[in-house]
Amino acid sequence: MLEKIQNALNSLCELHAANAQELEELRIKYLSKKGMLSQMMQDFRNVPAEQKREMGMRINELKNALQQRFDELRAAIAVKETSHDELDLTRTPYPAPIGTRHPLTIVRNRIIDIFSRQGFTLADGPEVEDDWHVYGSMNFADDHPARDMQDTFYVQGAPSMLLRSHTSSVQSRVMEKQQPPIRVICPGRVYRNEAISARAHCFFHQVEGLYIDEHVSFTDLKQVMLTFSRELFGPDTEIRLRPSYFPFTEPSAEMDVSCQICHGEGCSLCKGTGWLEILGCGMVHPRVLELNGIDSERYKGFAFGMGIERIANLLYRVKDLRLFSENDVRFLQEFQAAN
Ligand code: DAH
Repeated sequence: MLEKIQNALNSLCELHAANAQELEELRIKYLSKKGMLSQMMQDFRNVPAEQKREMGMRINELKNALQQRFDELRAAIAVKETSHDELDLTRTPYPAPIGTRHPLTIVRNRIIDIFSRQGFTLADGPEVEDDWHVYGSMNFADDHPARDMQDTFYVQGAPSMLLRSHTSSVQSRVMEKQQPPIRVICPGRVYRNEAISARAHCFFHQVEGLYIDEHVSFTDLKQVMLTFSRELFGPDTEIRLRPSYFPFTEPSAEMDVSCQICHGEGCSLCKGTGWLEILGCGMVHPRVLELNGIDSERYKGFAFGMGIERIANLLYRVKDLRLFSENDVRFLQEFQAAN
């Protein structure tokens, strides 16, 4: 019997199976109830007691070796049977986690979508801008406090270059290239020299809008703003315009929308007022039109500017501005459904 075991062990590597059927035949021959191994187990009963120990070990050795060979053959057949047509080497390995759009991208895309349905197209300009486009062409007096070093990041060694502090600079970029009718929105990043906290950051995002044509009136501005607000915050939303001041618009206004939470009753979000401020707007100052090569006798326009973070905060109640730029995956994943 020992000899039989040894022979079987020696010839193990000669066992071959080209397909599943041949493999099954091998299994029946060696490993099934009527196979070689079972037969040996039965013969084992007749082995004299003093040989039982060694014989038992040898049978076990054969059993493990047979099983291992069998597994190898089965794996080889599985590989062979996978047709090359089914093998897609470009496929992403699993698991493939689903990404999410950044909340600011989601809000920006919604804003673009709403304005593009009212005929606005996209425009953009550089983030590193010159003083003329950010301030001069927007009718900021030379000594206007917004030019102060405290607000604006200037480029070292190039005193007239700066990081734009608002997207209004793109208004000027568009006007110098194009005559009315002009109907653009300009989403983009802006920079201000602020200490970083939950409520302020040294960079944030704005969407600027500019509409210039003959016969444009404040009523047009109001209607575009009302449509925008209702599409973004819901059909029951009301708007309110409060007189304000910007160098580049006259008259200027700050716009509030009715509070989403209390619908005007007064709550903690709107600090009891029933209104939430969301943007600045106004009729383009005739001097701005002239400074940018547009005939202010013939054309009139309106403009508006809003902060994307501010709107994202209202839509999603994000309490800390810093979350928008930390790229914490747990925060970003929360917007999966909003994509
Ligand atoms: N540029 C202003 C700011 O950064 C926002 C703004 C207000 C833009 C009124 C406009 C406007 O176009 O008409 O605070």
